[in-house]
Parts: sequence; C-alpha cells; structure tokens
Amino acid sequence: MRIPKQNYDDIERIIEFDFVRATEAAALNALPWLGRGEKKKADAAACDAIRGMFDLMNICGEVVIGEGIKDDAPGIFKGEQLGMWLPGSPPFDIALDPIDGTTNIAKGAPNSITCIAAASPEKDVKVALRDIPSFYMMKLAYGPDVIRSMKRAGIETLRLESPIEETLITVAKALQKRVQDVIVMMLDRPRHKEIVAEIRRAGASLRMISDGDIAAAMAPSYPESGIDLYVGIGGAPEAVLAAAGIKCLGGDLQCMMWPRDREERDRLIAEGHEKDLDRVFFADDLANGKNIIFCATGISDSALLRGVKSQGPNAITYSVLMRAKSKTVRFIRASHDLQSKTIRLRSDNREHRI
Ligand code: FBP
Repeated sequence: MRIPKQNYDDIERIIEFDFVRATEAAALNALPWLGRGEKKKADAAACDAIRGMFDLMNICGEVVIGEGIKDDAPGIFKGEQLGMWLPGSPPFDIALDPIDGTTNIAKGAPNSITCIAAASPEKDVKVALRDIPSFYMMKLAYGPDVIRSMKRAGIETLRLESPIEETLITVAKALQKRVQDVIVMMLDRPRHKEIVAEIRRAGASLRMISDGDIAAAMAPSYPESGIDLYVGIGGAPEAVLAAAGIKCLGGDLQCMMWPRDREERDRLIAEGHEKDLDRVFFADDLANGKNIIFCATGISDSALLRGVKSQGPNAITYSVLMRAKSKTVRFIRASHDLQSKTIRLRSDNREHRI
C-alpha cells in the first residue's frame, strides 16, 4: 500500500541534494564569466541559476543572510523568498553567497566558491543563522585536530583576544609541529599589516589570499587543505556561512564585530548592539542548532574545493555537502554532460544549455 504523505521528520536529509544542485548550477552558470573582468555579470549569472533551482524546490525558503552590500553587487538579499512556497512545504532559513570571490572570478584567479547554508526549525533554537549587524568581523578559525588535542592537554580553547604569537605556539603544540611549520591563511589587506608582522616575527608561515574567506576560514577544518589556522578581518555574512560549514566539519571559529570606523561603531551602539561589540561569537553562536545543511561548489580552485573543470564533452564540478546533525561530509564530483545538461534560470523561467 502506498503511504499518501511522507511521514519523515528529518527533512534536511531529503532536500539536501537539491541545495547542492543549486550551487552546482550557480558555478556552471557563472563559469563563462571567469577571467572576463565582469564581476557583476558573474554574480548575476550565479544568482539567476540559484533562484531558478529554488523555483523547482518544494520548500518555503527565506533568505536571512544574503550577500554583503559590497560594490552594489546584484545579489540575493535578506528577506527574499526562495522555493515554491506551496502551502505545507517545509520552511528553511537560508544564508547564501552566490559567489564568494567575485573579484577573483573577474580576474580568472583562484579561490572562488558558491555556497549555501540552510536551517530548518528546531526546538529551542530561536535564531539558527545569526545576521551580524557589522560589515566586518575579526576571525580566528581552527580545525578539529587542534580542538581535540587542546582538550587532551586540559586547555579549554584558543582565545581570539590572545596575542597571535601565543595562539601560534598553542596550535603548533596541538598539531605536534614547530611554529615555523604552522601555516596561517589570511586575506591580503593593509588592515592586517600589524598582525602579519607579528606572525612573521613568531616565525609561522603565511598564505595570503586576495579574496574569498569562506573557503579560507573552513580550510583548517579540512585536513587535506594544508592550512592550520585562518586569521584576520573579513566580511560578517561570510563568517556566518563559514561557521555553518566549520561546525559540520567539527572545527571552530571565533569572531568579533570589527567596526570600520567611529561612524559604524556609533551606528551599532545606536541600534542596541553595544554589548555584542565585545562579545566573542563561536561557530555555534553564528550557526546554532543541529538542523543545518551546508553546501558549496568550487568555481575556481581553492584550499577547500577544486574549481569547475572542462573534460572533453563534460564539465566536472567539485562540491561539498554536509549536515550539522550527522556530521556526514560528502565531497561530490559531478560530471555534467554538456549535450544533455540544462540549468533552469529564473530570468526567463526556462531550462538552458550551458
Ligand atoms: P565578494 O565576493 O563579495 O567580493 O567578497 C569577497 C571577500 O574577499 C570575502 O570573502 C571577504 O569576507 C570580504 O570580501 C573581505 O572584504 P574586503 O574586500 O572589503 O576586505
């Protein structure tokens, strides 16, 4: 006998592959813009494909964290509804970055990914994906090996506020390395001048990236990346997305709001965020609860994922799909037959060859 209604409460398990279809579609649709100096067009292409895929998904999705407001990007912003919104379909809060590393795409440079985090309602979780009101956050991210070994040594946690030299020594001990073998990833920005000097003085090895700090912050939680620590100031929405991924990988991220100037600080205080200015947010504070899915697809190569590759008549995408509940981490290498594959775009509600 057929059961008329699916009686299954682990909804993320059913829907998760559609999320990765959305990031795959975004990567494939943005790819023609790689190296063409057109970051807005690349971003628009990724957004169009994500919206198009969500138009086929039987969910009530609401964007709670959209793209940052950098450069008037033609992004998907907070408040937008995604999915079919049929009565009775499951609700999801969605945080997404159609392209993290738009400048990299424009230049044809490495380190761009597309990613989505989604959370379905959960008892005792008020806000699963926290919308941070500042533009930037100071971030420190590390992997599960560091956490495990600190626990064994009776050290509760690394501290974002500690001098970086101290952190590097703790991480080196935890990973049974010399400090000079600790690899630190960071955005290459003038605002990092001091911390860069301190890291170099301590003797650790830096890997500077020009853009794309979601994959970079997740890298220490992914052993094969070769990165031990991520440090520095980057976008706040990117911190929440990274937190969702890091949580699934068993690592952690500590962040503090980093107002750019007096004006932003005053605005945050006027809006009632004064107490949070000194608060250290951990991954679990930014991405709270267990009903969280994270997925990402590489557009160009990063420490986390390879970018899209062309292989004869096929395009190969590399994605990661994971859930906080089960902590299952799936790396998905998909081969897309370019003769058959179509992507649905929202702009004209049709399927398109890529
Ligand atoms: P975009 O793809 O939106 O341009 O963001 C790229 C990025 O490098 C993020 O990964 C990072 O968090 C942020 O920009 C840093 O901002 P800024 O370029 O202002 O330093």
